[in-house]
Amino acid sequence: MSRYWSDVVKGLTPYVPGEQPKLANLVKLNTNENPYGPSPRVLEAIRAATGESLKLYPDPNSEQLKRCIASYHGIEAHNVFVGNGSDEVLAHAFLGLLKHARPILFPDISYSFYPVYCGLYQVGYETVPLAPDFSIRVDDYARPNGGIIFPNPNAPTGCLVPLPDIERLLRANPDSVVVIDEAYVDFGGESAIPLIARYPNLLVVQTLSKSRSLAGLRVGFAAGHAELIEALERVKNSFNSYPLDRLAIAGAVAAFEDRDYFEQTRGAVVASRGRLVADLAALGFDVLPSAANFVFARHPRRDAQETALALRQRGVIVRHFRLPRIEQFLRITVGTDAQCAALVAALKEILTA
Ligand SMILES: Cc1ncc(COP(=O)(O)O)c(C=O)c1O
Repeated sequence: MSRYWSDVVKGLTPYVPGEQPKLANLVKLNTNENPYGPSPRVLEAIRAATGESLKLYPDPNSEQLKRCIASYHGIEAHNVFVGNGSDEVLAHAFLGLLKHARPILFPDISYSFYPVYCGLYQVGYETVPLAPDFSIRVDDYARPNGGIIFPNPNAPTGCLVPLPDIERLLRANPDSVVVIDEAYVDFGGESAIPLIARYPNLLVVQTLSKSRSLAGLRVGFAAGHAELIEALERVKNSFNSYPLDRLAIAGAVAAFEDRDYFEQTRGAVVASRGRLVADLAALGFDVLPSAANFVFARHPRRDAQETALALRQRGVIVRHFRLPRIEQFLRITVGTDAQCAALVAALKEILTA
């Protein structure tokens, strides 16, 4: 704490991302990255964009990428906003669309960045408890609010809200913006993007960090009614005119163009998830139904924090949250089959020790 800090900074509780370990050879199942590398066509596009043109600023509006995302999702470019990772897109949504007199609503167990944005932008919020089975019940959000946001599938539970429930929520809240954070939707959910044509209060946020293996490139986007997108553009153009650099734009466009690679790698992750869930169940874990590239599991007789530590000693890292209701869970990213096998072998050793 310094006397030079502003009051806002003094009051912040910043987000703490999962560890990015410096040690090689760890089985890294803690931050929901894709275990497969980016498409070779993405790497080629980035290499091709690396040259003399880097002396020039990129297109401030990333038009080519917006057109590409729009055509992929069957919407118009003016329905698309792009940002430096979906975290930045979400941040702009908090300031531009969720900051109102009434508090916004999000689940008590959810993406832990949401309360951080509320702190940064002084957005009031209330949390809505998940059901006892850790699902989101949209009818629990039927009360006056300044906006609603949750991930679908939810993080860190992996549980999915079906699209008809999202629609019911949108119909019940015509006066506030509903943000659906679809960071993990490609692994088992159905996107709400087709609903933006009918619901001017819907903003859908997605990322290229997970299903397109580009966490290191930092590209996310939002889809919504042109007026919602304009709000995000106004914030962006009051903050950083060039959030996406030339390499990010080139790589992101190539990622959308290589559908085969996307289908192949996400299919592999989904198949590995099925095997991992079965293996964890065989070891006695309760595993929540996951539509994401991670699973949320607890062992009825083993302390989660101790298990996470024991895994780490065996070179496997998973995520543990010391938070009410979920402190006995581990969030485990679905890796390659070999990584999942290493995790399961380490767990077997720990459970029989
Ligand atoms: C629910 C959710 N939303 C958004 C993000 C941010 O993703 P990125 O900023 O890499 O696009 C994450 C990252 O883990 C997430 O779990």
